[in-house]
Amino acid sequence: MSKVVIPIARSERHAPLPPLASPVVPGRLADTFARPLHDLRISVTDRCNFRCVYCMPKEVFDADYAFLPQGELLSFEEIVRLARIFRGHGMAKIRLTGGEPLLRHGIEKLVAMLAAAIPDVDLTLTTNGSALKAKAKALRDAGLKRVTVSLDSLDEATFRKMNDVDFPAARVLEAIDAAAAAGLGPVKVNMVVKRGVNDAEIVDMARRFRGTGHIVRFIEFMDVGSTNHWRMDDVIASAEVIRRIHAAFPLEPVDPNYGGEVAERWRYKDGQGEVGVISSVTEAFCSTCTRARLSTDGALYTCLFAQKGFDLKTLLRGGASDSAISEAIAAVWQRREDRYSQIRTEETAKARKVEMSYIGG
Ligand code: GTP
Ligand code: 5AD
Ligand code: SF4
Ligand code: SF4
Repeated sequence: MSKVVIPIARSERHAPLPPLASPVVPGRLADTFARPLHDLRISVTDRCNFRCVYCMPKEVFDADYAFLPQGELLSFEEIVRLARIFRGHGMAKIRLTGGEPLLRHGIEKLVAMLAAAIPDVDLTLTTNGSALKAKAKALRDAGLKRVTVSLDSLDEATFRKMNDVDFPAARVLEAIDAAAAAGLGPVKVNMVVKRGVNDAEIVDMARRFRGTGHIVRFIEFMDVGSTNHWRMDDVIASAEVIRRIHAAFPLEPVDPNYGGEVAERWRYKDGQGEVGVISSVTEAFCSTCTRARLSTDGALYTCLFAQKGFDLKTLLRGGASDSAISEAIAAVWQRREDRYSQIRTEETAKARKVEMSYIGG
Protein backbone atom coordinates (compact mmCIF):
# COMPACT_ATOMS: atom_id res chain seq x y z
CA MET A 1 0.00 0.00 0.00
CA SER A 2 1.31 3.51 -0.74
CA LYS A 3 2.02 5.83 2.16
CA VAL A 4 -0.64 8.37 3.03
CA VAL A 5 1.34 10.80 5.17
CA ILE A 6 5.05 11.16 5.73
CA PRO A 7 5.79 11.81 9.42
CA ILE A 8 7.71 14.95 10.29
CA ALA A 9 11.33 14.52 9.24
CA ARG A 10 14.05 14.97 11.81
CA SER A 11 15.47 18.10 10.20
CA GLU A 12 12.08 19.81 10.50
CA ARG A 13 11.70 19.00 14.14
CA HIS A 14 13.84 21.53 15.95
CA ALA A 15 13.16 25.15 16.82
CA PRO A 16 15.97 27.56 17.79
CA LEU A 17 16.60 27.77 21.53
CA PRO A 18 15.25 31.07 22.89
CA PRO A 19 17.11 33.32 25.35
CA LEU A 20 16.06 33.41 29.03
CA ALA A 21 12.94 35.51 29.65
CA SER A 22 13.85 36.16 33.30
CA PRO A 23 16.60 35.08 35.72
CA VAL A 24 16.47 31.44 36.85
CA VAL A 25 15.54 30.80 40.48
CA PRO A 26 16.46 27.15 41.29
CA GLY A 27 13.38 24.93 41.68
CA ARG A 28 11.00 27.79 40.85
CA LEU A 29 10.52 27.43 37.13
CA ALA A 30 7.11 28.43 35.73
CA ASP A 31 5.70 28.77 32.22
CA THR A 32 3.49 31.59 30.88
CA PHE A 33 0.46 30.08 32.66
CA ALA A 34 2.41 29.65 35.95
CA ARG A 35 2.66 25.87 35.45
CA PRO A 36 5.76 24.30 37.04
CA LEU A 37 7.84 21.54 35.43
CA HIS A 38 6.96 18.49 37.52
CA ASP A 39 7.03 15.45 35.19
CA LEU A 40 9.63 14.40 32.68
CA ARG A 41 8.59 11.77 30.13
CA ILE A 42 11.66 10.29 28.47
CA SER A 43 11.39 8.34 25.21
CA VAL A 44 14.26 5.84 25.13
CA THR A 45 13.57 4.37 21.68
CA ASP A 46 11.37 5.28 18.72
CA ARG A 47 10.98 1.60 17.84
CA CYS A 48 8.22 -0.77 18.84
CA ASN A 49 7.39 -4.41 18.14
CA PHE A 50 3.66 -3.54 17.96
CA ARG A 51 1.92 -1.58 15.22
CA CYS A 52 -1.11 -0.30 17.14
CA VAL A 53 -3.49 1.15 14.60
CA TYR A 54 -3.89 4.41 16.57
CA CYS A 55 -0.14 4.92 17.07
CA MET A 56 2.16 3.28 14.49
CA PRO A 57 0.00 2.28 11.53
CA LYS A 58 1.67 -0.45 9.51
CA GLU A 59 1.41 1.32 6.19
CA VAL A 60 3.60 4.17 7.51
CA PHE A 61 5.88 2.38 9.98
CA ASP A 62 6.92 -0.32 7.53
CA ALA A 63 10.23 -1.85 6.48
CA ASP A 64 11.20 1.41 4.72
CA TYR A 65 10.52 3.67 7.69
CA ALA A 66 13.64 5.54 8.80
CA PHE A 67 13.91 4.97 12.53
CA LEU A 68 16.63 6.91 14.33
CA PRO A 69 20.14 5.54 13.83
CA GLN A 70 21.90 4.36 17.02
CA GLY A 71 24.24 7.35 17.13
CA GLU A 72 21.31 9.78 17.34
CA LEU A 73 19.94 8.20 20.50
CA LEU A 74 20.87 9.81 23.79
CA SER A 75 23.23 7.54 25.71
CA PHE A 76 22.30 6.49 29.24
CA GLU A 77 24.93 8.90 30.59
CA GLU A 78 23.40 11.76 28.61
CA ILE A 79 19.89 10.89 29.81
CA VAL A 80 21.01 10.80 33.44
CA ARG A 81 22.86 14.08 33.11
CA LEU A 82 19.77 15.78 31.69
CA ALA A 83 17.52 14.19 34.31
CA ARG A 84 19.71 15.64 37.07
CA ILE A 85 19.52 19.06 35.47
CA PHE A 86 15.71 18.80 35.19
CA ARG A 87 15.64 17.78 38.86
CA GLY A 88 17.23 21.14 39.62
CA HIS A 89 14.16 22.79 38.11
CA GLY A 90 11.78 20.93 40.45
CA MET A 91 11.08 17.88 38.28
CA ALA A 92 9.96 15.10 40.65
CA LYS A 93 8.68 12.32 38.42
CA ILE A 94 10.16 10.44 35.47
CA ARG A 95 8.25 8.18 33.13
CA LEU A 96 10.29 6.10 30.69
CA THR A 97 8.42 5.59 27.43
CA GLY A 98 9.09 4.84 23.77
CA GLY A 99 8.16 3.45 21.33
CA GLU A 100 8.47 0.38 23.51
CA PRO A 101 11.00 1.21 26.25
CA LEU A 102 11.82 -2.42 27.06
CA LEU A 103 13.27 -2.79 23.54
CA ARG A 104 16.10 -0.42 24.52
CA HIS A 105 19.07 -2.65 25.22
CA GLY A 106 20.09 -2.53 28.90
CA ILE A 107 17.06 -0.56 30.06
CA GLU A 108 17.51 -1.99 33.60
CA LYS A 109 20.91 -0.33 33.67
CA LEU A 110 19.37 3.05 32.85
CA VAL A 111 16.80 2.54 35.61
CA ALA A 112 19.58 1.74 38.08
CA MET A 113 21.61 4.77 36.99
CA LEU A 114 18.61 7.11 37.36
CA ALA A 115 17.64 5.62 40.72
CA ALA A 116 21.19 6.13 42.00
CA ALA A 117 21.61 9.64 40.60
CA ILE A 118 18.25 11.09 41.71
CA PRO A 119 16.79 8.68 44.28
CA ASP A 120 14.04 11.05 45.42
CA VAL A 121 12.35 11.06 41.99
CA ASP A 122 9.28 8.87 41.31
CA LEU A 123 10.58 6.51 38.62
CA THR A 124 7.99 4.78 36.42
CA LEU A 125 7.66 3.22 32.97
CA THR A 126 4.92 2.64 30.40
CA THR A 127 5.17 -0.56 28.32
CA ASN A 128 3.16 -2.73 25.95
CA GLY A 129 3.97 -5.66 28.25
CA SER A 130 5.49 -7.93 25.60
CA ALA A 131 8.88 -8.20 27.34
CA LEU A 132 7.74 -7.36 30.85
CA LYS A 133 7.31 -10.83 32.28
CA ALA A 134 11.00 -11.54 31.71
CA LYS A 135 12.19 -8.15 32.94
CA ALA A 136 9.84 -7.24 35.80
CA LYS A 137 12.06 -8.43 38.63
CA ALA A 138 15.25 -6.94 37.19
CA LEU A 139 13.49 -3.60 36.72
CA ARG A 140 12.21 -3.65 40.28
CA ASP A 141 15.66 -4.59 41.62
CA ALA A 142 17.14 -1.73 39.61
CA GLY A 143 14.85 0.75 41.38
CA LEU A 144 11.76 1.11 39.19
CA LYS A 145 8.76 1.96 41.36
CA ARG A 146 5.70 1.18 39.19
CA VAL A 147 4.64 0.26 35.67
CA THR A 148 1.76 1.11 33.40
CA VAL A 149 0.86 -1.57 30.84
CA SER A 150 -1.14 -0.95 27.66
CA LEU A 151 -3.90 -3.46 26.93
CA ASP A 152 -6.70 -2.45 24.59
CA SER A 153 -8.81 -5.59 24.68
CA LEU A 154 -9.24 -8.92 26.43
CA ASP A 155 -10.72 -10.43 23.31
CA GLU A 156 -7.90 -12.09 21.36
CA ALA A 157 -9.28 -11.22 17.93
CA THR A 158 -9.82 -7.55 18.83
CA PHE A 159 -6.48 -7.20 20.58
CA ARG A 160 -4.59 -8.72 17.67
CA LYS A 161 -6.44 -6.42 15.29
CA MET A 162 -5.42 -3.40 17.37
CA ASN A 163 -1.74 -4.29 17.91
CA ASP A 164 -1.62 -5.50 14.28
CA VAL A 165 1.26 -7.91 14.92
CA ASP A 166 -0.81 -10.83 16.19
CA PHE A 167 0.36 -10.45 19.80
CA PRO A 168 -1.84 -12.37 22.26
CA ALA A 169 -3.67 -10.59 25.10
CA ALA A 170 -3.00 -13.60 27.34
CA ARG A 171 0.73 -12.78 27.32
CA VAL A 172 0.08 -9.19 28.39
CA LEU A 173 -2.14 -10.46 31.22
CA GLU A 174 0.72 -12.71 32.38
CA ALA A 175 3.06 -9.72 32.31
CA ILE A 176 0.67 -7.66 34.44
CA ASP A 177 0.62 -10.42 37.05
CA ALA A 178 4.41 -10.74 36.91
CA ALA A 179 4.81 -6.99 37.42
CA ALA A 180 2.51 -7.00 40.45
CA ALA A 181 4.31 -10.03 41.87
CA ALA A 182 7.65 -8.26 41.44
CA GLY A 183 6.37 -5.31 43.50
CA LEU A 184 5.76 -2.90 40.62
CA GLY A 185 2.17 -2.23 41.67
CA PRO A 186 -0.35 -0.87 41.72
CA VAL A 187 -0.16 -1.72 38.02
CA LYS A 188 -2.06 0.66 35.79
CA VAL A 189 -3.60 -0.76 32.63
CA ASN A 190 -4.16 1.66 29.73
CA MET A 191 -6.96 0.96 27.26
CA VAL A 192 -7.29 3.31 24.29
CA VAL A 193 -10.95 3.25 23.32
CA LYS A 194 -11.85 3.45 19.65
CA ARG A 195 -15.49 3.48 18.60
CA GLY A 196 -16.59 0.36 16.80
CA VAL A 197 -13.26 -1.35 17.43
CA ASN A 198 -13.06 -2.09 21.17
CA ASP A 199 -15.71 0.05 22.86
CA ALA A 200 -18.00 -2.96 23.29
CA GLU A 201 -15.41 -4.29 25.74
CA ILE A 202 -15.29 -1.40 28.20
CA VAL A 203 -17.39 -3.17 30.82
CA ASP A 204 -15.55 -6.49 30.31
CA MET A 205 -12.26 -4.75 30.96
CA ALA A 206 -13.62 -3.12 34.11
CA ARG A 207 -14.99 -6.48 35.30
CA ARG A 208 -11.72 -8.31 34.64
CA PHE A 209 -9.67 -5.97 36.82
CA ARG A 210 -12.17 -5.25 39.60
CA GLY A 211 -10.83 -6.55 42.87
CA THR A 212 -7.32 -7.25 41.50
CA GLY A 213 -5.64 -4.09 42.80
CA HIS A 214 -4.76 -3.09 39.21
CA ILE A 215 -6.21 0.18 37.92
CA VAL A 216 -7.65 0.35 34.40
CA ARG A 217 -7.57 3.73 32.70
CA PHE A 218 -9.75 4.31 29.64
CA ILE A 219 -8.05 6.76 27.26
CA GLU A 220 -9.89 8.79 24.63
CA PHE A 221 -8.46 8.15 21.17
CA MET A 222 -6.28 11.21 20.49
CA ASP A 223 -5.12 13.06 17.39
CA VAL A 224 -1.44 12.61 18.22
CA GLY A 225 0.96 12.72 15.28
CA SER A 226 -0.41 12.86 11.78
CA THR A 227 -0.58 9.28 10.60
CA ASN A 228 -3.24 7.58 12.74
CA HIS A 229 -6.33 8.60 10.72
CA TRP A 230 -7.90 10.26 13.77
CA ARG A 231 -11.55 11.30 13.44
CA MET A 232 -13.76 12.79 16.12
CA ASP A 233 -16.41 10.20 15.20
CA ASP A 234 -14.09 7.46 16.50
CA VAL A 235 -13.78 9.01 19.97
CA ILE A 236 -15.90 7.68 22.82
CA ALA A 237 -16.19 10.43 25.43
CA SER A 238 -15.04 9.50 28.93
CA ALA A 239 -18.47 10.49 30.27
CA GLU A 240 -19.91 7.67 28.17
CA VAL A 241 -17.27 5.22 29.47
CA ILE A 242 -18.20 6.07 33.05
CA ARG A 243 -21.92 5.83 32.27
CA ARG A 244 -21.50 2.32 30.88
CA ILE A 245 -19.37 1.04 33.77
CA HIS A 246 -21.60 2.72 36.35
CA ALA A 247 -24.64 0.91 34.92
CA ALA A 248 -22.93 -2.44 35.61
CA PHE A 249 -20.90 -1.57 38.72
CA PRO A 250 -21.89 1.65 40.51
CA LEU A 251 -19.09 4.22 40.74
CA GLU A 252 -18.37 7.41 42.65
CA PRO A 253 -15.73 10.08 41.96
CA VAL A 254 -12.44 10.23 43.90
CA ASP A 255 -10.15 13.25 44.43
CA PRO A 256 -6.93 13.32 42.40
CA ASN A 257 -3.79 11.83 43.95
CA TYR A 258 -1.91 15.01 43.08
CA GLY A 259 -2.56 18.32 41.31
CA GLY A 260 -2.33 17.94 37.54
CA GLU A 261 -3.06 14.20 37.48
CA VAL A 262 -3.99 13.20 33.95
CA ALA A 263 -6.55 10.54 34.82
CA GLU A 264 -9.83 11.39 36.52
CA ARG A 265 -10.42 8.78 39.23
CA TRP A 266 -13.59 6.84 40.02
CA ARG A 267 -14.03 4.05 42.59
CA TYR A 268 -16.45 1.17 42.83
CA LYS A 269 -19.03 1.82 45.55
CA ASP A 270 -18.66 -1.79 46.71
CA GLY A 271 -14.96 -1.29 47.49
CA GLN A 272 -13.57 -3.38 44.63
CA GLY A 273 -11.01 -0.79 43.54
CA GLU A 274 -10.91 2.10 41.08
CA VAL A 275 -10.77 3.03 37.41
CA GLY A 276 -9.60 6.18 35.65
CA VAL A 277 -10.53 8.08 32.51
CA ILE A 278 -8.18 10.22 30.44
CA SER A 279 -10.17 12.78 28.50
CA SER A 280 -7.75 14.77 26.41
CA VAL A 281 -10.36 15.34 23.69
CA THR A 282 -13.60 16.07 25.55
CA GLU A 283 -12.27 17.59 28.78
CA ALA A 284 -8.84 19.06 28.25
CA PHE A 285 -6.50 19.20 31.25
CA CYS A 286 -3.91 21.64 29.85
CA SER A 287 -4.42 24.20 32.61
CA THR A 288 -2.61 21.90 35.03
CA CYS A 289 -0.16 20.32 32.58
CA THR A 290 3.29 20.12 34.15
CA ARG A 291 4.80 17.61 31.70
CA ALA A 292 7.99 18.02 29.69
CA ARG A 293 8.99 15.42 27.12
CA LEU A 294 12.45 14.38 26.03
CA SER A 295 12.55 12.70 22.63
CA THR A 296 14.70 9.69 21.83
CA ASP A 297 17.27 11.94 20.17
CA GLY A 298 17.42 14.51 22.92
CA ALA A 299 14.97 17.24 21.97
CA LEU A 300 12.79 18.92 24.57
CA TYR A 301 9.07 19.07 23.75
CA THR A 302 6.65 21.08 25.86
CA CYS A 303 3.46 19.44 24.55
CA LEU A 304 2.41 16.00 23.31
CA PHE A 305 0.98 17.69 20.22
CA ALA A 306 3.99 19.87 19.43
CA GLN A 307 5.28 20.41 15.93
CA LYS A 308 8.82 21.30 17.02
CA GLY A 309 11.19 20.44 19.84
CA PHE A 310 14.29 22.16 21.16
CA ASP A 311 17.57 20.42 20.51
CA LEU A 312 19.38 19.69 23.79
CA LYS A 313 21.60 16.97 22.34
CA THR A 314 23.69 19.43 20.35
CA LEU A 315 24.34 21.33 23.58
CA LEU A 316 25.20 18.10 25.41
CA ARG A 317 27.58 16.94 22.70
CA GLY A 318 29.01 20.41 22.06
CA GLY A 319 30.58 20.66 25.50
CA ALA A 320 27.97 22.92 27.16
CA SER A 321 28.17 23.15 30.95
CA ASP A 322 25.36 21.94 33.21
CA SER A 323 24.42 25.52 33.96
CA ALA A 324 24.21 26.42 30.26
CA ILE A 325 21.92 23.43 29.64
CA SER A 326 19.89 24.29 32.71
CA GLU A 327 19.42 27.82 31.39
CA ALA A 328 18.38 26.53 27.97
CA ILE A 329 15.70 24.33 29.57
CA ALA A 330 14.53 27.24 31.71
CA ALA A 331 14.36 29.55 28.70
CA VAL A 332 12.14 27.10 26.81
CA TRP A 333 9.87 26.48 29.80
CA GLN A 334 9.53 30.17 30.69
CA ARG A 335 8.10 30.79 27.21
CA ARG A 336 5.85 27.74 27.16
CA GLU A 337 2.31 28.58 26.01
CA ASP A 338 1.03 25.11 25.08
CA ARG A 339 -2.61 24.24 25.62
CA TYR A 340 -3.28 22.24 22.50
CA SER A 341 -6.22 20.19 23.77
CA GLN A 342 -8.03 23.30 24.94
CA ILE A 343 -7.80 24.98 21.56
CA ARG A 344 -8.00 21.93 19.29
CA THR A 345 -9.78 22.58 15.98
CA GLU A 346 -10.36 20.47 12.90
CA GLU A 347 -7.40 22.28 11.33
CA THR A 348 -4.96 21.61 14.19
CA ALA A 349 -6.11 18.01 14.44
CA LYS A 350 -4.97 17.55 10.84
CA ALA A 351 -1.70 19.47 11.27
CA ARG A 352 1.67 17.75 11.01
CA LYS A 353 2.74 16.96 14.55
CA VAL A 354 5.48 14.70 15.87
CA GLU A 355 4.60 11.04 16.27
CA MET A 356 3.86 9.61 19.72
CA SER A 357 6.36 6.79 19.18
CA TYR A 358 9.16 9.37 18.92
CA ILE A 359 8.11 11.77 21.65
CA GLY A 360 6.73 9.22 24.17
CA GLY A 361 3.15 8.72 25.37
P1 GTP B 1 0.43 8.13 36.66
O1 GTP B 1 -0.99 8.59 36.63
O2 GTP B 1 1.29 8.99 37.49
O3 GTP B 1 0.57 6.69 37.02
O4 GTP B 1 1.06 8.29 35.18
P2 GTP B 1 0.77 7.50 33.81
O5 GTP B 1 1.84 7.84 32.82
O6 GTP B 1 0.44 6.10 33.96
O7 GTP B 1 -0.40 8.12 33.33
P3 GTP B 1 -0.48 9.45 32.68
O8 GTP B 1 -1.67 9.87 33.35
O9 GTP B 1 0.77 10.23 32.81
O10 GTP B 1 -0.61 9.09 31.14
C1 GTP B 1 -1.45 8.09 30.62
C2 GTP B 1 -1.80 8.43 29.20
O11 GTP B 1 -2.43 9.69 29.17
C3 GTP B 1 -0.60 8.64 28.31
O12 GTP B 1 -0.10 7.45 27.88
C4 GTP B 1 -1.17 9.48 27.24
O13 GTP B 1 -1.94 8.70 26.37
C5 GTP B 1 -2.07 10.39 28.03
N1 GTP B 1 -1.35 11.60 28.43
C6 GTP B 1 -0.36 11.70 29.36
N2 GTP B 1 0.08 12.95 29.47
C7 GTP B 1 -0.64 13.67 28.59
C8 GTP B 1 -0.64 15.04 28.24
O14 GTP B 1 0.12 15.83 28.76
N3 GTP B 1 -1.52 15.43 27.30
C9 GTP B 1 -2.37 14.57 26.74
N4 GTP B 1 -3.19 15.06 25.85
N5 GTP B 1 -2.40 13.26 27.04
C10 GTP B 1 -1.55 12.81 27.94
N1 5AD C 1 -4.63 8.11 21.54
C1 5AD C 1 -4.69 7.76 22.86
N2 5AD C 1 -3.74 7.06 23.48
C2 5AD C 1 -2.70 6.68 22.75
N3 5AD C 1 -1.62 5.96 23.09
C3 5AD C 1 -0.83 5.85 22.00
N4 5AD C 1 -1.39 6.48 20.95
C4 5AD C 1 -2.56 7.00 21.39
C5 5AD C 1 -3.60 7.74 20.78
N5 5AD C 1 -3.57 8.11 19.49
C6 5AD C 1 -1.42 5.38 24.41
C7 5AD C 1 -0.95 3.94 24.39
C8 5AD C 1 -0.20 3.79 25.68
C9 5AD C 1 0.24 5.17 25.98
C10 5AD C 1 1.72 5.31 25.92
O1 5AD C 1 -0.37 6.04 25.07
O2 5AD C 1 -1.95 3.00 24.34
O3 5AD C 1 -0.99 3.28 26.71
FE1 SF4 D 1 3.96 0.51 20.39
FE2 SF4 D 1 2.75 1.65 22.47
FE3 SF4 D 1 2.56 2.77 20.06
FE4 SF4 D 1 1.33 0.47 20.51
S1 SF4 D 1 0.89 2.45 21.52
S2 SF4 D 1 2.58 0.95 18.70
S3 SF4 D 1 2.70 -0.53 21.91
S4 SF4 D 1 4.42 2.55 21.25
FE1 SF4 E 1 -0.15 19.28 28.18
FE2 SF4 E 1 -0.21 19.67 25.57
FE3 SF4 E 1 -1.52 17.59 26.68
FE4 SF4 E 1 -2.40 20.11 27.01
S1 SF4 E 1 -2.30 18.99 25.10
S2 SF4 E 1 -2.24 18.50 28.58
S3 SF4 E 1 -0.46 21.23 27.13
S4 SF4 E 1 0.70 17.93 26.65
